[in-house]
Amino acid sequence: MIKKSITHDECQKLLDCFYRCCRANKQFSEKFYETMFQMEPQIKVMFSGVNMNEQGRLLMIGIEYLLRSFSDDNTVSLIQLKRLGKKHDQRNLNVHPKYYKFWKESLIKTIEESDERWNEEIHDLWVRALDISIEEYLISHYE
Ligand code: HEM
Repeated sequence: MIKKSITHDECQKLLDCFYRCCRANKQFSEKFYETMFQMEPQIKVMFSGVNMNEQGRLLMIGIEYLLRSFSDDNTVSLIQLKRLGKKHDQRNLNVHPKYYKFWKESLIKTIEESDERWNEEIHDLWVRALDISIEEYLISHYE
């Protein structure tokens, strides 16, 4: 059975992994978008005209909110995650739920390629955390 929650220890492991990736791969967000656009070219169209340097910076902050929403001190992160959910819904950016699997897969692939301590346990942890957040805060807002 898949656990539907993340413990504080697990949250810390994910944050440690994410910070290792940020230190090891200065092109992390570029790699993430490149991978996602290759997986699903329709997504690339949504980003035409977007300043990808700025978008990359916001993405990294967004991932940090997502992870910190599982921590003890999560008030700000939860507010931000809910804001992001609303921003991506059909009244705003209109990101259809079918696209989130590409987002998740390209993030996991980019982390795997960036983290020298990547293993099966950390892989499963990322899958669980992303599934919970995407379901709860992103897809559930799309009517
Ligand atoms: C959990 C999943 C996701 C997270 C955490 C996330 C995060 C973000 C963040 C932080 C921003 C900047 C907006 C702001 O801070 O106000 C953003 C914008 C955006 N996201 Fe996402 N995103 C996710 C999934 C997706 C997916 C699946 C797509 C498309 C397939 C997508 C398309 C966009 C677009 C088009 C923008 C607006 C860019 C612009 O016009 O400036 N996002 N996202």
